[in-house]
Parts: sequence; structure tokens; C-alpha cells
Amino acid sequence: MSEYCIELNEVTKKFGNFTAVDKVSLKLEPGKIYGFVGPNGAGKSTTMAMIMGSLFPTSGSGKVFDHPLASTAALKELGYSPEFTSFYRDMSCAEYLHYMGRLSGLSDKEAVERTKELLDKFELNEHANRRVAKFSTGMKKKVSLAQAMINHPKVLLLDEPTANLDPTSRQEILETVRNMVENEKLTVMISSHVLTELETVISHVIMISHGKIILDAPIHEAQEMFKKGILIVNTSDNDTVYEALKDHYQCTVIEEGLRFMSENMEQLKKDIVTLAYTKGLILNLLQEEVMSLDALYKHIMEGGNHESDNKENA
Ligand SMILES: Nc1ncnc2c1ncn2[C@@H]1O[C@H](COP(=O)(O)OP(=O)(O)OP(=O)(O)O)[C@@H](O)[C@H]1O
Ligand SMILES: [Mg+2]
Repeated sequence: MSEYCIELNEVTKKFGNFTAVDKVSLKLEPGKIYGFVGPNGAGKSTTMAMIMGSLFPTSGSGKVFDHPLASTAALKELGYSPEFTSFYRDMSCAEYLHYMGRLSGLSDKEAVERTKELLDKFELNEHANRRVAKFSTGMKKKVSLAQAMINHPKVLLLDEPTANLDPTSRQEILETVRNMVENEKLTVMISSHVLTELETVISHVIMISHGKIILDAPIHEAQEMFKKGILIVNTSDNDTVYEALKDHYQCTVIEEGLRFMSENMEQLKKDIVTLAYTKGLILNLLQEEVMSLDALYKHIMEGGNHESDNKENA
């Protein structure tokens, strides 16, 4: 038996000439929560769809436990909450869960029992007979999570379960996921654009950009890795500072002024103070920071996917 719940080996997905997922290799261990983060169009949903067997890789291979992707045995181990769920117009919440149970292979009796359990667990009892298509976005996400659990999966794939939710509902969904993992010993892969909200829940972070994995590390390791120096600088003439130092240090223009990254913080500070002195600049801000994972994410993604820029500007 494989020690991993999911293994991908150089999985690639092309749509025509366009490579959406590019030689992605991943190994997910049991009992962990993996954050799968990346901007719009990075390849998150496509990767998940390949794990779910609803899209076939153009090349590469993968396994769910010891079963090949898309096999019936693999599907039995997986629960999936898609990015967009469409609900039948006339189904009540309870009917929908029962229906999904039947689709996943439960007997009628098992589906009835499981529906009851999940309505309880997700605190949906008082809404059980209301039409699910009329639910609020937050409630629909909850129902989508509940249906993902219908066949007692060992691995849950949650594609942006918090998208379009207000902060309270986001926290509620993440809390629910955390409880599910604790109570049911699940492995979860959860995708999002927003790393900060996942940071407290996930044990592992996987970053994807342009179809390629650019970081795959335990969350604490990732946080440690990027604890190196960042200096936020604001002077009376940031352009001059930028021009003078951009060839010597990694420097980005940000709202607060300039963000420098360097492993030699002392030298960087000296250089800035010397420059300010010789050019007669006023030093408004010289602030050292530890890079949060989210800052790292933004940093990595800067100048990243054009698709995301387009969407945001649209
Ligand atoms: N069926 C398809 N045909 C053609 N291109 C596709 C198809 N599905 C996805 N793509 C493209 O593949 C790339 C990856 O898409 P994917 O949906 O996996 O990204 P994502 O990371 O889930 O993005 P988002 O955060 O917007 O959900 C995108 O450029 C997308 O336009
Ligand atoms: Mg997506």
C-alpha cells in the first residue's frame, strides 16, 4: 500500500497548444491539509479535475492510494466540492444530499442515513426541506461540502470553498473543514487565491503559477524559509533611492514606498542611510519585516499571470 493518498508524476494537461498544467508532481500524505494556492488561471481546478478523473492528463500519471487516476476504486476514496456547483432547481437540501449519495453508490437506506448525519453535522437541519437552489452562497458552499463527504471519502478536494463569501462565512467554512479533518482523519486539498485565510488551517502549502508548482513545503518550513530580511523604506524621494540601489538589491515599488529584500540587512540599512545623507533625503520609514507567507505569495506572483490581471481589471 502506498504511503501517499495522492501521487502525481509529471502530470501535464494541454488544451490545444496551451499547457494548463505543466509536469506537476505531487505527493499528499494522509491526515494533512494542503493549501493549493495560485492566481486565476494557474491550473488549480484543472489539476483537481485530473485527480478526480473528470479530465485525463495529456501525459504523466497518478494514483489515489494504489489506484490509477479515474478508476472506480480511486473515485471511492475521493470527495469533491467543485468550484461551481449547480443544483437542481426543485430539489430540497435533503433530497439533493440523498441523490448525491445514491450517485456515489450508497443504497437507498445508506443514503437516507448519511443525509441525516450530514444535515446534523453541517447544522443544516432546519433548512433540510428548503430548495437548495435558493440558498445563500454561504449555505450552498456548506451543502457542497456536505455532499463531498457523502461517501465517507479519505481524501477531500475542495476547489475554492470560500470564494465569494463574507469573512464570517469564510471562517465558518474553514472551521468546518478543520473539524472534519480532526473527526474523520481526512486528507484535504483546498484551493484558494487567498493564502492568509488558509495559513492557520493548512499544514502544507503548494503554490502553482502558469501550470507549474513553484513551492511545495510544510507551512512552518515555508514560513521559516522566508524569514529573511525585508526592509520597507520611505524617503522624500523614493525614485532616487530606487535608481541608486535597484542594481544592488531586490527592490519593488509598493504603496508604502519601496520594499527591499536582502540577506545582508546591516549593509542594506547602511547603504540607505548613507544615500539619504549624501542626497539630503528625509527618511520617513525604515522598517524591518518578516515576510508572511502571503507577502511571499504576492512577491512570487508579482508580474505573474496576465489572465489574473485581465480578470481583475475587467
Ligand atoms: N476546457 C478548457 N479548454 C481550454 N482551456 C482551458 C480549459 N479549462 C481550463 N483552461 C485554461 O487552463 C488554464 C488553467 O485553468 P484552471 O481553471 O485550472 O485555473 P485555476 O487555477 O483553477 O483558476 P481560477 O483561480 O480562475 O479558478 C486557464 O488558462 C484556463 O483558461
Ligand atoms: Mg479554478
